Amino acid sequence: MSTLTNKRIILGVSGSIAAYKSPDIVRRLQDLGAEVRVILTTGGREFVSERSLQTVSKNKVHDNLWDSEAELSMGHIELAKWADLIIIAPASANTIAKLCHGKADDLLSTVILAASCSVMVAPSMNQQMYASLAMKDNLQLLQKRGVRIIDPGFGEQACGDIGEGRLAEPSEIARKISEIFQNSLLGGKRVLITIGGTVEAIDPVRFLSNHSSGKMGMALAYASIQAGAETTLVIGSISVDVENRAKTIFVTSANEMHEAVMKNIHDQDLFISCAAVADYRPTKVSPNKIKKNSSQKTIELVANKDILSDVCKLKNKPICIGFAAETENYLNNANQKLKNKNCDAIILNDVSNSKIGLKSDENEVYFITSNGSDKINKNTKQIVAEKIINKIVKEFF
Ligand code: CTP
Repeated sequence: MSTLTNKRIILGVSGSIAAYKSPDIVRRLQDLGAEVRVILTTGGREFVSERSLQTVSKNKVHDNLWDSEAELSMGHIELAKWADLIIIAPASANTIAKLCHGKADDLLSTVILAASCSVMVAPSMNQQMYASLAMKDNLQLLQKRGVRIIDPGFGEQACGDIGEGRLAEPSEIARKISEIFQNSLLGGKRVLITIGGTVEAIDPVRFLSNHSSGKMGMALAYASIQAGAETTLVIGSISVDVENRAKTIFVTSANEMHEAVMKNIHDQDLFISCAAVADYRPTKVSPNKIKKNSSQKTIELVANKDILSDVCKLKNKPICIGFAAETENYLNNANQKLKNKNCDAIILNDVSNSKIGLKSDENEVYFITSNGSDKINKNTKQIVAEKIINKIVKEFF
């Protein structure tokens, strides 16, 4: 797996002669596995064609804050949320000054204001402009705000001057971006996560299932991918969008989920059993709809296999993390599950509380190992997922 596999990068191209190098930057980032979208400023357009950038990036070039059609397909807020990193290369003196002032008068500056991801800036300008006090102050201010600067190189410039201000080489820019992600917590690791509820057929129209939405599992999938892991999802019944950077296997019943997990578990480093798996299924699935006046008034059930327990029994088992969905005797029940299933940790959540329950956007959990329990305070499921991944890495990797 390359360092930028599954990473989403926005390349902002602003008005500098070095903009002609931007298609090369796109290529190099793609070679490292990234998906790249380009935002081209009016100044950038003077030096590189939209068509070249569209062709290499294989995505429509974004350039207009006021284009309602573009905003409908992927607006400035969506773009800001989409990106794992934004790099402006080349960054002109004007673009850098706009960032310092928090201006939002074009698409690039607006996306940067709306983004919470890392931002990098690779300045490119005449050596005298680069040496000016205003530029030095501006770059210092950006650095103070956490923006990473890729220093320009020294040499002959397009205007004939010799000095510092040439855009860093595309290979250097790609390397600096890779370095940011190289410390990924789960870089090079494989993670398999079960998500959602299982559905156990009674007859062709009826089934037994549960209220699982898949929100917590999908948040873990996102966090696992952000941490650099090659992530496989075995997905039951859910009501959330699927994380499309993961390998996905869709199943219906507990039996199918068991089979899919067992088929894919062998080369995994970490198994997170987040699915709400039905413990029982009807002994017989009626081939026809059971009629109201049928003599059958009870449904006989048979136990499903316990997927988590079976993975924990494997000879070369991965690190195994289970969930305990409880409504009473929380810590006792969770500790019992930790022992009975022989897993490495259990995430306990109180599913009787609708504010942090199965369908809610928030959660509050306990991370329980044989060494004790640690509370992860109430927060969005995404933040809780990131904290769970951090704890798993700290504890087991
Ligand atoms: N689990 C599983 N296979 C099952 C049942 C549960 O892999 N057939 C996993 C769940 O994904 C979860 C953990 O086991 O990680 C605990 O699930 P939970 O429903 O809380 O507990 P159960 O084992 O089903 O026990 P109980 O219903 O008695 O609470």
